[in-house]
Amino acid sequence: MAIPVALIQGASRGIGLQFCKTLLTGPKNNVVIATCRNPSSAQNLQILKDEHPKSLHIFPIDVTNESQIQQTASDISLQFKNLDLLINCAAILHPSGKGETSLRDVSSQGVLETLSINTVGPLLMAKYFSPLLLKGCGGFGKATENQQHKAVLVNMSAKVGSITDNGLGGWYSYRMAKAALNMATKNLSIELGRGKNKVICVSLHPGTVDTDLSKPYHKNVPKLFTPEYSVDCLLKVIESLEIDDSGKFFTYDRTQMQY
Ligand SMILES: NC(=O)c1ccc[n+]([C@@H]2O[C@H](COP(=O)([O-])OP(=O)(O)OC[C@H]3O[C@@H](n4cnc5c(N)ncnc54)[C@H](OP(=O)(O)O)[C@@H]3O)[C@@H](O)[C@H]2O)c1
Repeated sequence: MAIPVALIQGASRGIGLQFCKTLLTGPKNNVVIATCRNPSSAQNLQILKDEHPKSLHIFPIDVTNESQIQQTASDISLQFKNLDLLINCAAILHPSGKGETSLRDVSSQGVLETLSINTVGPLLMAKYFSPLLLKGCGGFGKATENQQHKAVLVNMSAKVGSITDNGLGGWYSYRMAKAALNMATKNLSIELGRGKNKVICVSLHPGTVDTDLSKPYHKNVPKLFTPEYSVDCLLKVIESLEIDDSGKFFTYDRTQMQY
């Protein structure tokens, strides 16, 4: 069986960094490709590289830079024949670091910047990396005798991106960006599920996790997960996925969320 290859986009810190750590120390001897916008200043990722010099490969991607995504996809395809897993992790809550509490706080720049990183970025990643995913060896997802998928694409979403679940309002930019990301996941599941080679595409909610993104809100959170715990749960969900799950939105405990 070929060694599974996973690409983690947004790997400099938080949940993305933890995905790299856990995948590199797991039982499958995974190869991990980590992308982040500024590799030289991603200190914790560089420490991980020193610990895993052969199995961790770091490439630059700022998801707001389409030509860089295209160039890096081309560079990666010279070194790797396929990808088995792509996880789109990078996101911001809002350029200010805090979600809008009312319309007063909404600005064109705030909404557009959030959409650019949280929604357009993952979609462009799918555009340029789907050729490698379609050549995957099925190294992630549920292994069955009649396994139909070649690879898994995960868009890290958020419960607050569920339109059905929205009872509180606020956080216009982040909620809109994640709701639109969920639509991208659904569209991708249709397009990448049509051919003989299929990619399972899902949106995942990681729980509320102790990272920089959620920091302003930690004191109000009854159940704050460590990145280690959240990623262990998310990887269990990923390993349970079959083609019939494609297009869906799951939480860390595999509860299916309504869009
Ligand atoms: N933490 C939570 O409680 C929580 C809850 C629900 C959903 N999520 C989702 O989980 C995912 C990971 O969040 P997190 O908590 O790990 O966030 P985080 O710790 O704040 O990390 C955010 C990551 O996004 C990267 N990033 C920001 N702008 C970028 C750009 N233009 N291009 C490339 N990378 C960029 C950052 O890179 P730099 O180091 O270069 O800034 C960093 O690696 C996100 O999609 C988030 O929405 C998190």
